Amino acid sequence: MLQSRWAIEKVVLVWVLLLFFTASVVLASQQASLAARPSREADFVPHVGAFCHKGWCHGQNINTGVSAWKTRTPRDDPHRSNSSSGFYNTTLLPLRFEPLPFGSIKPLGWLDRQLDLMANGLPGHLHEFYRPIKNATWLGGHEEYSWLNEAWPYHYNALVPLAWTTDNARLKHHVLRVTDWVIDHQHADGWLGPEQDAARRNFWGRYPLFLGLMQLVEAEPELGTTMILPAMHRFVHLMYSMLRDGHQGYVWKPGDLFDEQWGRSRAADMVLALQWLYEKHPMGNEEKIHYCMREMYEMAYDWSYWFSEDQYLKEDLDLYPEELTRSLFPYVHGVNAGQGLKWGAVMRRLVQDDQFLNTTRNGVNWTLQYHGTPSGAVIGDERLAGLSPVRGTELCSVVESIFSLSYLYHALGDRDFADKTERAAYNALPVMLMPHWWAHQYIAQTNQPVSHRLESTPFWNVGPFGQTFGTEPNFPCCTVNMQGYAKYVPAMFVKDGEDGLAHALIGPAHVSATLKKRNHVRVRCDTNYPFSNYLNYEITATRAFHFSFRVPSWALLDSSVVVVDSGKRHALTPHNASGLHTMIIPAGRTRVEVSFGADLRVEARANDTVSIYHGALLYALPLAGNYSTSRPANYPGTQAPPQAKDWSILPREPWNVAIDITTLKFHEYANRYDRWLPHPIWHEDQSPVSVSALGCQVDWELKDGYAPNPPAKGQRNCTGRAFPVELRPYGSAKLHMAELPTVDLRPRSRDLWRP
Ligand SMILES: *[C@@H]1O[C@H](CO)[C@@H](O)[C@H](O)[C@H]1NC(C)=O
Ligand SMILES: *[C@@H]1O[C@H](CO)[C@@H](O)[C@H](O)[C@H]1NC(C)=O
Ligand SMILES: *[C@@H]1O[C@H](CO)[C@@H](O)[C@H](O)[C@H]1NC(C)=O
Ligand SMILES: *[C@@H]1O[C@H](CO)[C@@H](O)[C@H](O)[C@H]1NC(C)=O
Ligand SMILES: *[C@@H]1O[C@H](CO)[C@@H](O)[C@H](O)[C@H]1NC(C)=O
Ligand SMILES: *[C@@H]1O[C@H](CO)[C@@H](O)[C@H](O)[C@H]1NC(C)=O
Ligand SMILES: *[C@@H]1O[C@H](CO)[C@@H](O)[C@H](O)[C@H]1NC(C)=O
Ligand SMILES: *[C@@H]1O[C@H](CO)[C@@H](O)[C@H](O)[C@H]1NC(C)=O
Ligand SMILES: *[C@@H]1O[C@H](CO)[C@@H](O)[C@H](O)[C@H]1NC(C)=O
Repeated sequence: MLQSRWAIEKVVLVWVLLLFFTASVVLASQQASLAARPSREADFVPHVGAFCHKGWCHGQNINTGVSAWKTRTPRDDPHRSNSSSGFYNTTLLPLRFEPLPFGSIKPLGWLDRQLDLMANGLPGHLHEFYRPIKNATWLGGHEEYSWLNEAWPYHYNALVPLAWTTDNARLKHHVLRVTDWVIDHQHADGWLGPEQDAARRNFWGRYPLFLGLMQLVEAEPELGTTMILPAMHRFVHLMYSMLRDGHQGYVWKPGDLFDEQWGRSRAADMVLALQWLYEKHPMGNEEKIHYCMREMYEMAYDWSYWFSEDQYLKEDLDLYPEELTRSLFPYVHGVNAGQGLKWGAVMRRLVQDDQFLNTTRNGVNWTLQYHGTPSGAVIGDERLAGLSPVRGTELCSVVESIFSLSYLYHALGDRDFADKTERAAYNALPVMLMPHWWAHQYIAQTNQPVSHRLESTPFWNVGPFGQTFGTEPNFPCCTVNMQGYAKYVPAMFVKDGEDGLAHALIGPAHVSATLKKRNHVRVRCDTNYPFSNYLNYEITATRAFHFSFRVPSWALLDSSVVVVDSGKRHALTPHNASGLHTMIIPAGRTRVEVSFGADLRVEARANDTVSIYHGALLYALPLAGNYSTSRPANYPGTQAPPQAKDWSILPREPWNVAIDITTLKFHEYANRYDRWLPHPIWHEDQSPVSVSALGCQVDWELKDGYAPNPPAKGQRNCTGRAFPVELRPYGSAKLHMAELPTVDLRPRSRDLWRP
């Protein structure tokens, strides 16, 4: 009986696959004629096609993939536990730490000045001149860079937190105006966005929109109640009926004209927003929201499947057959990989299955161990790569990884997630921006001694200008997804239970919160962290409460102390799991001073190279450069302000250096006062900290305009005398070498130069 049932199922399976195959072929031919065919929507003809930039083109196709991909949905999981097969608890599993309402946390010191630079730089001015934002399809214009219509929602999600965190009237005014426009133009059936034709409607672009709206509701509760929440609920009603109708807008079927892969691999972003709506503002719509979360989960590409020993690819992806990596594209796409890190923690709230803990922890570790930069980002030049310092990380992958990792700390409370959030935010992110925030890189290489047009790229799919700084050096997604520090700041403090407040991500910021029994608490942390490891807290509270700060795992407990009101020195006792050091703070005013002990850390990297850390910072060999500029390339139009430039940087110093790690020394020029830090802080000439070492040049030359993999061990003899080098924070060194080959420079060593 069982056997014959299996046989029938097999027949059905083959038949279904055949159907998919036929459907894909039909769709492919439809796509081919798409460009030529006039649109049925008179008022919506976006200017899209293949995206081309300075001679480099990025294919633009509606890729449905269905039959070809080796993805799996939770619904297809043969082993899924009964907890996730039909039975869903209507209460969501709580987060380990509750985030504070958006707007409670404000940056201070150097971080505050970074946010101001963002507001006054590219992130805060894009909407005034950048075509896909200024003339966005979402705002009645005709500019888009892809059929996904994602440019404007990406930008919106980044701009809401920037406008309110900096309290910038110009930006707030703009956000309110466009919010009003978009909601005013909500379709009668509840759809938000420019797409008229049901076959073209794709939920994906709505994910960043919802994440942005979520923050605006918290910042402006009244506007939330009167305008935004009703619009979100109208959309959820429609989403509910679309999901009931064969997962329309989410799962592709023949006749549909949308690319399903992004929506299904990034489902956690929308489920996260729906969970917020469900818990904070359900407005009687609980059942429909819950249904939407379930259906999105069940038909999502399952990241737990990918994060399992049998599936995960731990080697350099170039070493696998193209056919295999192509079949896994939704999981190995570099930005998806950053977004997917949080999948298990988001879905675990709904499914309440602790299997997600293991897969999430493995997923984060494997992604960063096998495909991670020493600066804490995912190596992916469109697709994940291995560990070579030649390959790069995309800015949009960096910001998404920061968002995912900070969410993971909130959701699961593992200290490691917070350590990793800081590593990316204080290293991988700043290196990709010009110090004044008027230009960014699309992709950053770990060893990047030069930033110019490459003769030939080492990347999987990034153009020759991808590693230059500019308005839009490559595909526009990283120009518009300009989250920078704007999403980091709101995650810095969290509630810990009813009566606790914790400083989760360390850095200069202040917070005001109301704990139980109307206990009004304010905490101000003045610090130059991560440039110094000294924190000065001023705390006021109406009643006693539990205050915690996270002790980073690199902190040396022997030389770390906490002092209350200039009293006795106490040792730190971080909690095993969360890393939090907790103390009871009485009512009134209290001063808490913390100092983390730190030392130099040398981490081994690929091909016998090393990366050097002290505290939360990665140190790199910085290279002084010759900077030259040109007007931004064609895409942003002629309206770009004079500050928006495209840059080319050539090194003025030798970069082909190996170091002797026995000679490393840390130097801190900092004192404890905030005023003292240079501005802008991420500037290579103004580093408040450095690491010195002895090094020498080795035989290592540019190839195709970039630094290739370093010479192998045994081929690293000095080609000249040894000399002192000064390593500086990676984030400030636009030209940098951060995976350094090592040499032995002791007397009589065979590595020494012999003239
Ligand atoms: C799950 O399955 C196990 C074993 O079949 C059973 O004992 C248990 O009651 C089930 N739990 C639920 C919630 O259905
Ligand atoms: C549902 O989840 C909540 C929160 O985890 C839990 O307290 C409750 O016991 C669960 N209910 C059922 C029926 O499993
Ligand atoms: C936006 O569209 C208007 C009208 O179509 C056009 O005049 C203007 O140049 C466009 N702006 C940009 C930045 O492309
Ligand atoms: C967790 O993941 C590791 C690595 O795949 C595996 O060896 C281990 O069995 C898993 N543990 C549980 C409890 O599933
Ligand atoms: C992941 O890596 C962190 C840091 O190295 C480690 O503490 C943790 O145990 C690892 N988790 C798993 C599941 O391997
Ligand atoms: C190590 O170096 C070899 C030889 O240059 C190169 O083929 C390989 O890709 C490198 N591995 C990594 C991870 O960089
Ligand atoms: C915390 O770590 C200490 C030392 O490794 C260990 O003795 C203790 O059992 C751990 N506690 C918990 C709750 O894991
Ligand atoms: C950098 O500029 C200086 C002074 O203009 C010039 O002498 C030098 O050749 C330039 N170096 C490079 C690599 O362009
Ligand atoms: C490099 O070192 C090797 C031994 O490590 C030595 O045999 C060789 O002569 C050296 N080459 C140069 C150019 O110094």
